[in-house]
Amino acid sequence: MKTQIFYQETLDKAATLLKEGEVVAFPTETVYGLGAIATSQEAVLKVFEAKGRPSDNPLIVHVHSVDQVINTVEEFPESAKLLAKQFWPGPLTMILKAKSGIYAPALSAGLPTVSFRMPNHELTLSLIEQVGIPLVGPSANQSTKPSPTRVQHVVEDMDGRIAGIVDGGDTSVGVESTVIDLTNEEGPVILRPGVITKEEIEPIIGPLVEYMKTTTGEKVTPKSPGMKYRHYAPTTPVVVVEGSVEFWHSLIEEYQEQGEKIAVMATNDILDTVSSKVEESYSLGEKDSLTDMNHHLFNALRSLDHTDATIILAQASVKEGAGLAYMNRLEKASSFTKKER
Ligand code: TXA
Ligand code: MG
Repeated sequence: MKTQIFYQETLDKAATLLKEGEVVAFPTETVYGLGAIATSQEAVLKVFEAKGRPSDNPLIVHVHSVDQVINTVEEFPESAKLLAKQFWPGPLTMILKAKSGIYAPALSAGLPTVSFRMPNHELTLSLIEQVGIPLVGPSANQSTKPSPTRVQHVVEDMDGRIAGIVDGGDTSVGVESTVIDLTNEEGPVILRPGVITKEEIEPIIGPLVEYMKTTTGEKVTPKSPGMKYRHYAPTTPVVVVEGSVEFWHSLIEEYQEQGEKIAVMATNDILDTVSSKVEESYSLGEKDSLTDMNHHLFNALRSLDHTDATIILAQASVKEGAGLAYMNRLEKASSFTKKER
């Protein structure tokens, strides 16, 4: 299959392919998604196939209007109304109870729920509107690879496997949306951290239940099937580094003595002192900027994986706020953590 690249001027051609049941990747503010009409079982199965995705991992339905959600769910609770008003279009996915018989059964992977998101990207909002039907959109990478934040990443993983890719430039946020389950009996719970944080959500809909813990303190089984799979992993081993500049220097020496070729991904304050000592380096942006770190994370992993480096040392962030999103991805991409004592 020849994969065509589409732009704003040729968006109507991408819409036509989607209406015909083909798979077309689209840009969003988080990462690129693998689009297909969400009501067609055949089209949705093509997405699982192209990604190599396990069939028990459900897909997010992307809409261009709140009405597209309201018309297809059993209930649109007050909490969903408030969150949509505050954060849509934007990087928040809400899990709701869908009416039966509307969406392709494959997309919910056997769960009684469907997740929805309105992406904040003009091209894609217009694409969904032209198609007239919501689109599924898992991240447009091969399963287990880092999510795509540039059109080139989608080409790397999907060329020849899908009908087209809409080029919308580099994504801005860089990590996938926050996923919140609004159907959980114990109360709303964040299943996947993103740049929209618990601290921003709680003032709007009240306290959230902690993931993996019920209000009575027992553990619950993870409800988001995607969280259990290996993810985001480059071929080169990744080590998470948590510590001072001195710690970085001693770690680099240690690995060099073992004959490793080192690549470092870190913010400028660290890079300034270590980059001359190592084979490859990639800037994650300004010191302490979680926005920068999230934005650069996946491209850093992909770029450094393409170099001759035999090991990637990646800077840890704080584990709070938007740092939870960064560390959630980085820990899944890595083999282990080196922490200063
Ligand atoms: O930012 C994003 O969310 C991107 C862009 C393209 O929109 N999409 C994305 O999709 O990250 P995907 O398929 O790579 O990740 C969706 C996650 C998976 O962990 C999946 O298990 C979970 O959301 N999920 C989807 N529907 C669910 C449901 N009904 N119940 C529980 N988890 C669900
Ligand atoms: Mg994904």
